[in-house]
Amino acid sequence: MSKQLLALGLVAIIGGLAGMWWLSAPDKMGPVTSGMHSGADTAPPIPADQVVVPELTPVALSGKKVFEKSCAACHGINAAGTDKGPPLVHSLYRPGHHGDDAFYSAAAKGVIAHHWRFGNMPPVPGGISDTQMRWLVKYIREMQVANGVR
Ligand code: HEC
Repeated sequence: MSKQLLALGLVAIIGGLAGMWWLSAPDKMGPVTSGMHSGADTAPPIPADQVVVPELTPVALSGKKVFEKSCAACHGINAAGTDKGPPLVHSLYRPGHHGDDAFYSAAAKGVIAHHWRFGNMPPVPGGISDTQMRWLVKYIREMQVANGVR
């Protein structure tokens, strides 16, 4: 075997080992709190039975209805989360981190999973009107404020 071939073989072996290490490296996706945005300052979810439901304004009450029809199957009653989707009453979704646009975009276009391990969020079938989205975001924000997420 020539020296070049030997060197090539060595490179292949090292490359293969590196690949195997990468494949077996635990937690490639990172912990649940790390994502494309930094989640280091993110508090854990509020347990579903401890989410505070404030007295909602009429607009937020309308938003709650939209939410329960189109979002609660995954994001849970009181936006507390389920095994199909994350809680939205969560510091990760505070206004400074996920502005109102993130909600409009999520409903219209869906979300590629990047913060959690629930998988992708599909676009909401049939879409939701801007007016209803405005109500819905008001509902989420009032729920967030009542639970110390701001
Ligand atoms: C079929 C399940 C499902 C439904 C229905 C659903 N979502 Fe989601 N949603 C998810 C999952 C899963 C994620 C988390 C993706 C990730 O890992 O970041 C998510 C993420 C989000 C986010 C975060 C977006 C971002 O930029 O990170 C928002 C906002 C959101 N959903 C709003 C809504 C609203 C509003 C509705 C109803 C109109 C809704 N979702 C309905 C599953 C769902």
